Order: sequence, then C-alpha cells, then structure tokens
Amino acid sequence: MDQINVQSGGAEAAYVTDALIAEDIDAYLDTHQRKTMLRFITCGSVDDGKSTLIGRLLYDSKMIFEDQLALLQADSKKVGTQGAEIDFALLVDGLAAEREQGITIDVAYRFFNTEKRKFIVADCPGHEQYTRNMVTGASTADLAVILIDARKGVLVQTRRHSYLCHLIGIRNIVLAVNKMDLVGYDAAVFDAIVRDYAAFARSIGIEDFTAIPISGFKGDNITAPSSNTPWYTGPSLVEHLETVDIAASADAERPFRMPVQWVNRPDLDFRGFSGLVATGTVRPGDAIRVLPSGKTSTVTRIVTLDGDLDQAVAGQYATLCLADEVDCSRGDVIATADQPPQAADQFEATLVWLDDEPMLPGRAYWLKLATKTVSATIQPPKYVVDVNSLEHLAAKTLELNAIGVAELATDKPLVFEPYAQGHMLGGFVLIDKITNATVAAGMLHFSLRRAQNVHWQSVDVSREAHAALKNQQPRLLWFTGLSGSGKSTIANLVEKQLHALGKHTFLLDGDNVRHGLNKDLGFTEADRIENIRRAGEVAKLMTDAGLIVLTAFISPFRAEREMVRNMANAGEFLEIFVDTPLEEAERRDVKGLYRKARAGQLKNFTGIDSPYEAPENPEIRIDTTVESPEAAAQRIVSLLIGEQA
Ligand code: ADX
Repeated sequence: MDQINVQSGGAEAAYVTDALIAEDIDAYLDTHQRKTMLRFITCGSVDDGKSTLIGRLLYDSKMIFEDQLALLQADSKKVGTQGAEIDFALLVDGLAAEREQGITIDVAYRFFNTEKRKFIVADCPGHEQYTRNMVTGASTADLAVILIDARKGVLVQTRRHSYLCHLIGIRNIVLAVNKMDLVGYDAAVFDAIVRDYAAFARSIGIEDFTAIPISGFKGDNITAPSSNTPWYTGPSLVEHLETVDIAASADAERPFRMPVQWVNRPDLDFRGFSGLVATGTVRPGDAIRVLPSGKTSTVTRIVTLDGDLDQAVAGQYATLCLADEVDCSRGDVIATADQPPQAADQFEATLVWLDDEPMLPGRAYWLKLATKTVSATIQPPKYVVDVNSLEHLAAKTLELNAIGVAELATDKPLVFEPYAQGHMLGGFVLIDKITNATVAAGMLHFSLRRAQNVHWQSVDVSREAHAALKNQQPRLLWFTGLSGSGKSTIANLVEKQLHALGKHTFLLDGDNVRHGLNKDLGFTEADRIENIRRAGEVAKLMTDAGLIVLTAFISPFRAEREMVRNMANAGEFLEIFVDTPLEEAERRDVKGLYRKARAGQLKNFTGIDSPYEAPENPEIRIDTTVESPEAAAQRIVSLLIGEQA
C-alpha cells in the first residue's frame, strides 16, 4: 500500500519553478514512472464537497488502509451520517489533522494510483486569502478540478479559482458539477451551469474544459458512468483523469533546453552537465549552445548510472558530456544551437505577492528562475488585478495575495522564455535577501525592448586611468546612522583633511542631494530606497571618475546599503556606522526635528516611527558617546592614507 501524504509548508514549497516538489517526488518515482503521473489540484471550498470528493477518490481507488476504513466507519456513525454511507470528508480532514502537529500546513499533497496512472493531488484551502496556497498547489499541477455545488452554480470563487489556474498556466480544466443528487440529477441544471461557465471561461482565455456531473457523496460518475445520469455520455472523473493528455508530448516537441543544475566532475577525465530537460529532445551528436555566453559545442554522451542513453526528453534528468571544454556552470542553460532562448535583464511580468510584507519597489530581491539566481528590483506595479471582478486597478505596491503586472530589472542577464511558452524558463520566485522568505511567484511576459536597444558604450579612458592621474585609489566612504548622529560633521572633517593632503574627493550629503537630484523624494520606505539607489549610482560614477567619495545618508535599510556595496568595485566600499544611540541624537536634536517628530508634526521619522537597521559588520564603527568627531575623522584618514600608500 503506497498512499503517501506530504504536507508542504506554503511559502517554501514548490512554486512556479517546480523545483522543490520535483525533489520530493523524485524520492518515490523514477523517470519511467514520471511519464504516467498526473498532478492535479482541487479547487473549491468545504461547502462544495471537496473533502468528500478527495476522500471518495482515495476510497474508490482502494487506497485507504483497512484499519483507517474501520475507523472511518465508526466515526461516520458517531457524527450521525445517514445509513451505512461513509463520510469521506472525515477521512481527508483526519489525514490533514494527523500531519498538523507543529507544521504550518498550507497545501496537502496526496499520492494515489489506479492501474493506468499515478496521481498527486494538491488540496488547497479555498478561502479568498489563500491565493498564496492555491498558487503553490497549482504551480506544479497538470490539471485542475474546479468544484461547483450544483445548487449554487458559478460563484465568485469559481471565477477566482479558474482565473488563478489559468494564470499559472494549467491547460486542463475539469468543471466538476457536484451534489447532482441534491438537484435530482437534473440535466437542465447541469447544462445551465456549463453554459454560464463557458461564457466566463472564454472571457478569460480558457479555451477548453471538460464538464462532468458528479456526486462525491453518492459516487456518481466518479469511477464509472452513473445510471442516475443517463443523459450524460462523457467519461467519469477517474476515467478522464486516467486518460487526459497532459501535454508532456507538446513539451517534447519544442526546441531543446536544459538549465544546468550542477557540473558533475568526479575526476579530471569526466565532466558532465546535469539538469532536468525543460523542453525538447537531446541526442549525442546534437549541436548545442550554452547560454548566456553563446558558446557552441556538440553533445558526445548522455550519461546515467544505468548506462548511456541515446536520447533524453522533456521531463527527464540528464547528464550531458560535450565535445569541447566550454565554460558552463550552474544556472547556465544548454539549448539547441540554432534556436536558443534569449537572454535579457529587463522584463514585464505578472507577480503574485505571497508575503505579509508588501512589495517594496526598488528593493533588491533574489530572483530564482530555473537553476539561476540573480538580484532583481521591481518597479511600482502598472496595475493589480481584482481576482473577484478581474478588473485592473491602480496600485503603488503589492500586498499579500495581490496579483499585479510590473516591470523588473535584474543585475545579470537571465536566459528565459515567456511563461506562456515554457514554465520552467518563464516562471520564477522572488526571495527576501535578509529573511530568506519566498515573497512572490512570477511569470515573465517578455523582455523590454529598451533593454535590448541600450548597449554599454565602451570608453578608452578607463577608471584606472582616471584614478592614476589623480594619484589615488577610488574609495566610497559610506556614512550611515540616525539623523543627527554626526555623519555630516565627521564626513566633512574627513574630507577637509583628505583635501589638505592633496586627495581628490567629493562629499554627497543627504540633505543637499535632497535639494536637487532627489527633491522629488520624501521619507516613505519606497522613497528612501530610491534615494539610496540614486545616491549609490552617483557615487559609483564618481568613483569611476577616480574620486574618493564620502556620503552622509541615514540609509536606514541594510538591503540598500548592501546593494550599494555590491555596486561598488571590490574593496572600494567602506561602511562607516556613526553609532549614536537614539536618546543621544534626540537629546542633541541639532535641527529640532526630533521634537517635531515627537509632537506628531513630522511623520516617518527615523528612530521614532520609521525603522533604522544598524549595520552588522561595518568596516568602521564610531561610538560618538566616547569618541570625538575629530578623533574619529583622524582614525578614518589614517586608515585610508595607510591603504593608499
Ligand atoms: S534617508 O533615510 O533617505 O537616507 P537622508 O539621509 O537622505 O535620509 O535624509 C535625512 C535628512 O532629512 C535628515 O537628516 C533630516 O534632516 C531630514 N528629514 C526630514 N524628514 C525626515 C524624516 N521623516 N526622517 C528622517 N530624516 C528626515
């Protein structure tokens, strides 16, 4: 008996990228078995009879342990189910409860099989606020069963579930019109619901669906045609699940692409590139191209533990050996030489926001697409979609469960395909760099043409030449600390001394930059992020010009300080934490702003009602309660001059 229940904790589970669940499943299934497996999701609420239906599927496919069955019959009697019928909802809820100890359960995966196929069903809570869970479950599904209560017809939630399934790219939709027993198996009721749903489905681009009249409770049309619905001539639900074409064949016919998961190099003689074939077929002798480098070679072998293969197709893991010593590492994509995918660094995408913290435009997140992880920033959304009315609404950010369309930019080129063409190279997740939480699932639409049309112009006078002429090494001295901590004072003293020593410097001060370049920005989180992004870009240009740059910005967020650090050349960025406790800065209150903030006249004031994230490992820390500005400045200058010598 091999029914297995796997619970996955929501945000960390497999999303559009498919990666995690694939790993789970691989523990059970070899490549051959994968071919005969259908993953599906059931959408609906408890009221629609979802638990009953899943329980019935497990029961009818004889996948219930016998002792469980005995227990179930006892339980059903206890809760007073009529007659000898078993309450299948009890079974499923019981299975869930069993797993509930100590883990957050968002999606429950159940494995069962019939003679023809293996099944994994993702069961997601049906509530509105559970977009996150539905996306998790739907991301790995080949098919969705949308449950409707025959007495109620198409509801707002039916539309929401259908929209999400379609958005995630599920191509097979089953409309299971349930509780037919409660409407007297009336064909007219069924037909009216199907008509209603068809009109809606067309409006959101669902081209096709299969409607089946069922009763999960009585078992009608679940495993066999029911005599209660002689007017229905289509397949039973299980028959349909067993035979539906899950488009694996379509993936195999597309051009070959394989994201490289790891480079297999057990000894000097062998070098293989391993990964899951996303689309297409690869054979020894095929000409391939490694992306994004564009280098070409030829496949010499496809290696497995059980001997070489003469081909590997979409959905199979493969290790490829190449004829040439080409550079190729984890995150690269190996593709057909003459039809490679594109690489780009600016995109339009749909995002489903999965985190309690709203999206921060301008904040750098990790973007994980297939086996590649890059840093990405997102623009404010163009619009968000109301999942109930499907209207497009204006928005400044994305909140938990929101679905929106936005542009994003990555720090390195990403090899991709539009999600509509391929899920593996078009679906991605965003990860918070500090908390490591998965904050969004996304689907790439296309790359922005402006990214392809703007090239990097090379110049002959290099940054090294600029610096050499000034007889110094560029540095970026990044002062951070609360308002009134003494950043500007110390930075000013440092600059004066460096200047006197004949160094070429420039001091970018927050208050000053906010009068010009950044005068359009205020003090919301989003504006502060943009403030630091621009300041960082300007500082970077100035170091390119060979200058020693000093900046004095509160720069309250670790993420943006890290972003600037990564923008700078290695070793050039020095984080200087001007560590003045809030009480002390407030006591000094040089500009009278703390008083105003306490009086409620100044909103979002750092330290009062806006956070400051202190540096964890600054290059230099100045405790201004024990070190004078002059002493601190002297210390910084000595360090710098020592370095420059
Ligand atoms: S940052 O947070 O975006 O890095 P920045 O250093 O540019 O801030 O500007 C901070 C200066 O703006 C403060 O020193 C203070 O003079 C002024 N200021 C005005 N309103 C605020 C506020 N709400 N929070 C912090 N500083 C403010």
